[in-house]
Amino acid sequence: MPRYLVTSALPYANGPIHFGHVIGAYLPADVYVRYRRMRGDDTLFVCGTDEHGVAITINAEATGVGYREFVDRWHRVIGDTLAAFGIQFDTPFSGTNRCRHHERISQRFFKNLHENGYLLQKTERQWYCEKDAMFLADRYLEGTCPFCGAENARGDECKKCGQWIDALALKNPHCKLCGTTPVVRETAHWYLDLPKLHADGVGEWFEGKNPRREHVEWKPNVRSFVGNMLADLHPRPITRDLRWGVPLPTPFTEEGKVLYVWFDAPIGYCSITQEVLEERARRKGETIEDNAWLDWWAPKNPSDVRLIHFIGKDNIGFHTIVFPSMSFGQGDRFGHPVVMPWAVPAMEFYNLQGRKFSTSDGWTIDPIEFLKRYPNVDAARFTLLSTSPETADSEFTFEDFQRVNNRDLADNLGNLLSRALRFAKDKLDGVVDRRDPTEAERALYAEVTPQIHAWAQALEKFEIRNACSALVAIGRATNRYFDACAPWSAIKSDRVAAERCIDWTTRCLGIIGILAEPFLPNAARAIRESVGIGGIDLRQAVDELLARSQVTAAEIGFRVGEVPILFQKIDDKTIAAEVAALRERAAASAKTTTKNMTENVPAAASQPAAPTPAAAPTPAAPAAAAGKPEITIDDFAKVELRVGTVVVAERVPKADKLLRLEVDLGTEKRQVLSGIALKYAPEQLVGKRVVVVCNLAPRTMRGLESRGMILAADDGSGPVIVSPTADVSPGATVK
Ligand code: MF3
Ligand code: ZN
Repeated sequence: MPRYLVTSALPYANGPIHFGHVIGAYLPADVYVRYRRMRGDDTLFVCGTDEHGVAITINAEATGVGYREFVDRWHRVIGDTLAAFGIQFDTPFSGTNRCRHHERISQRFFKNLHENGYLLQKTERQWYCEKDAMFLADRYLEGTCPFCGAENARGDECKKCGQWIDALALKNPHCKLCGTTPVVRETAHWYLDLPKLHADGVGEWFEGKNPRREHVEWKPNVRSFVGNMLADLHPRPITRDLRWGVPLPTPFTEEGKVLYVWFDAPIGYCSITQEVLEERARRKGETIEDNAWLDWWAPKNPSDVRLIHFIGKDNIGFHTIVFPSMSFGQGDRFGHPVVMPWAVPAMEFYNLQGRKFSTSDGWTIDPIEFLKRYPNVDAARFTLLSTSPETADSEFTFEDFQRVNNRDLADNLGNLLSRALRFAKDKLDGVVDRRDPTEAERALYAEVTPQIHAWAQALEKFEIRNACSALVAIGRATNRYFDACAPWSAIKSDRVAAERCIDWTTRCLGIIGILAEPFLPNAARAIRESVGIGGIDLRQAVDELLARSQVTAAEIGFRVGEVPILFQKIDDKTIAAEVAALRERAAASAKTTTKNMTENVPAAASQPAAPTPAAAPTPAAPAAAAGKPEITIDDFAKVELRVGTVVVAERVPKADKLLRLEVDLGTEKRQVLSGIALKYAPEQLVGKRVVVVCNLAPRTMRGLESRGMILAADDGSGPVIVSPTADVSPGATVK
């Protein structure tokens, strides 16, 4: 039986984490690990904070605290946030600076690569600040991106276009510390020879052709991303001029040089493994050797261990090329080859209410505060999981949170449980006895059984959204069954029928209580306890469910105890207030950063005739203040408004603000040009419901005909698309 080595990307101890991080790398890993353990698999779940790198030194300096104090602070906040979400790493949740094995193991990786001929030393020219007397590592440098022209690009990559930048190619460089223009000096750095590693086997491994290792099934998003990168591989520098990080091993040690943070960070997975194993041993009163981690990372038989990296989109290259190359390049120097990833279930981006999460723009939710307002963490987990960006970018909206909480959880599961148990208490003397199935129960199980298998198959393939749907579907089927039985009226003429209904309803609830464990750990336990299977062995239960859709323990009746309220409903007012508060925070932070505003928000006056349908009706001031003349209902009725679904969205060349949309209106598809490109990326819009003014006279812009316009709200900070708050079919009228 393979063992599972599961990692979540080590979060930078450099600031708070938000929902996007939680769903990107931590929550799905937690679900997967819980699932593996339910299946009885030996599983290690490793994480900690990424504590080195120049981003951290810069922020610590700006905050005026020491580096270690700075990372300690964020280590604590991040650890608390993840714990609040019920994410249970193996302990300790460590970090690359606090782990006492990290330096040693990182240096070993470096030395092994060197001995195996995979490191190159290059003397290179680099920016040097004479005022600060230091070489300027990537992020101490700012300038203009040579690829896209974006300003304030950093020395290592451009935030705007995502390209890796060679610092010397940066235009108009200046030192971030003192603002002066640096000079070029010579310095020697080490490079990881990626082209050689690729030729020696990493390429074959990636293509799944290497017989020595198991085949990895790459997600399509991963494969296409990496395919592009492999076409253009270069040696990558792995040392930096910095005084915070892992020093180079002897004899390569050099004052003022450390290993690049992206070199040492993934090795954190290994060094933290050692700590986890140590703590396990300590609890048993045992001690272990310093290389115990190799039992997981370089096992005798490489297919013994399945290494799985849960990461967000922007970490793909490092986990599918760079770190695997570093591992491959160890050769047998650790006794056996280092394991290569077996799966990299990378997430896409997760947005917030139609925009990117941005802490600096106030467009974010503090997860700890959120969980104080909505303390049922299961509801938050289930919302993130069932809207996760598994195959495409997705978003968190308060409306989805309300829908998932109220409909999928409170109505579908919570209410079902309390209706069944209350009935048993009130009408059946608080006892649920087992009754033989009739046709109705067999039909119910014919619906439930495939969902049990769908649940397991989906989790095996990291398709957590589908696994959530399977759970919800079991709830729905059971609700339909319960309502059709109508025990409240059956009891009047046929007590056994009513008893049977409660029996089979609670059996299905028992199934839900088992299958919900990875997603809703608290509710799952409460459900199991309420339906008399509190003491069940989960591993055995899942086996039984997969084998015969029943669990032995649930075939014995039970006495109803207290009836728990699993989920509190959230009302519309609360949701509206949340959205308003978010917008207020963003508006407040926009006011404090006027520079950004003028950069991002075009002055309406500069484009008076611009046919930007979404934004046009609202010049600089919010429209309400303008006070248009009164109209009659008949005037309004002249406007044909319909709901449509965006099926295609793309930029219009040479028009910054325009997007070309194709909107499905049910009976027809329309091309609409919309002036929302500064606020929305095309990918964000596909699948979105919008409201279209259908009978607007067509007009042509940039040679493209626009037939209609889509509605958007604007409070002065740019257009926000108007969308129905619940599912409505395309073509529906709006009035
Ligand atoms: N700290 C990085 C980030 O937050 C992730 C590092 S993953 C590791 O994007 F593999 F390097 F640890
Ligand atoms: Zn300087």
